Amino acid sequence: MHHKYFTTLPLASLASLAVATPYETREAAPGLIDDLLTGILNPMQQLIKDVLGGVKSGINDEISTKPLVCLTTLDSCCPWYDVSAELTKLFTETNGECNDNARAAVRFGFHDAGAWDKDSTFGGADGSLMMDFSEESRSENNGLQTVRTVLRSVQAKYKVGYADLAQYAHNHATITCPKGPRVRTFIGRKDATQANPTGKLPDVNDSADNLIALFQRKGFSAHDLAALVGAHATAKQRFVDTSAAGMPLDTTPGVWDVEFYNDTLNNNAGKNEKVFVLPSDKVLSVHPQVKDEWREFVGNQPHWNEDYAKAYIRMSLLGVQNLKDLKECTKTLPKKKNI
Ligand code: HEM
Repeated sequence: MHHKYFTTLPLASLASLAVATPYETREAAPGLIDDLLTGILNPMQQLIKDVLGGVKSGINDEISTKPLVCLTTLDSCCPWYDVSAELTKLFTETNGECNDNARAAVRFGFHDAGAWDKDSTFGGADGSLMMDFSEESRSENNGLQTVRTVLRSVQAKYKVGYADLAQYAHNHATITCPKGPRVRTFIGRKDATQANPTGKLPDVNDSADNLIALFQRKGFSAHDLAALVGAHATAKQRFVDTSAAGMPLDTTPGVWDVEFYNDTLNNNAGKNEKVFVLPSDKVLSVHPQVKDEWREFVGNQPHWNEDYAKAYIRMSLLGVQNLKDLKECTKTLPKKKNI
């Protein structure tokens, strides 16, 4: 997939380029984010539309330090500078790589937002997994309890929204891992009023066709799915095979790199191999709709980072209806680590 970004052109040119660079073809699926981005758009809605449509990058490397006087009434990003500093401490290993908290936070953001599809009238990126709705005791959320407690203590200290914190922590963890992208980070979601619907998260033993269909109902193409499961670059398994608990899903779980893509192709699933390959990753890596993109990510970090950022932004906005009220606070994230 080729990417072209036009950040310095006047609005009129952008509008014509948006026509020249059409939205990626998706199944007609009423209820998706794309439906919220029609008609007259405010600048935030336009930005989201441009990112999801591939007109603008989902990565933003602009950084700012907290001003001496930071008034939330003037800049709603103010509290996030302090949250960011706290998460850096919580997510960083002594050798500078990302740690177990960070890995779990990447998964946590996905499980909070991903429990949603186009038929859901509630749920999505609403913080419900962090709130008191007992979602943490669902079997698919095994392994996320510790990071949930960690993130709840951050929420209690800084009084930020649960829904925003779940996605902010995902994006922070991504950049805490060396080589990770600074994914555009939006703030201003509404917190949940009930638990997310059940049965919307993927089953590790499901077929590739079913997994592709499951993600398609959330608005993701097979290409998006290929990029998203790359988050297993910074992952360990504990519950798929308990006798191999703690085994990484690629050779470098503390780094956000593309090793995962060739490790998956080169290893057979199982605990006697170099890395643990999830059955779902194995079947996806060779599926006709996924395999070409999968191989394109091998050795191509910039390509994966761009595609991941774009797809994860969609994830981080699933079920969010008030797109026009969001603010971008990517500037509060730490800088990219290239080691
Ligand atoms: C086909 C879709 C997916 C399936 C079937 C799947 C399944 C799994 C399973 C079974 C584990 C191991 C859990 C354990 O035993 O502890 C895991 C770990 C993980 N997954 Fe996924 N996953 C999928 C997609 C994703 C996506 C889209 C993301 C993020 C955007 C993600 C992020 C992670 C991370 C970071 C871990 C490691 C957690 C840790 O080390 O604590 N996964 N996934």
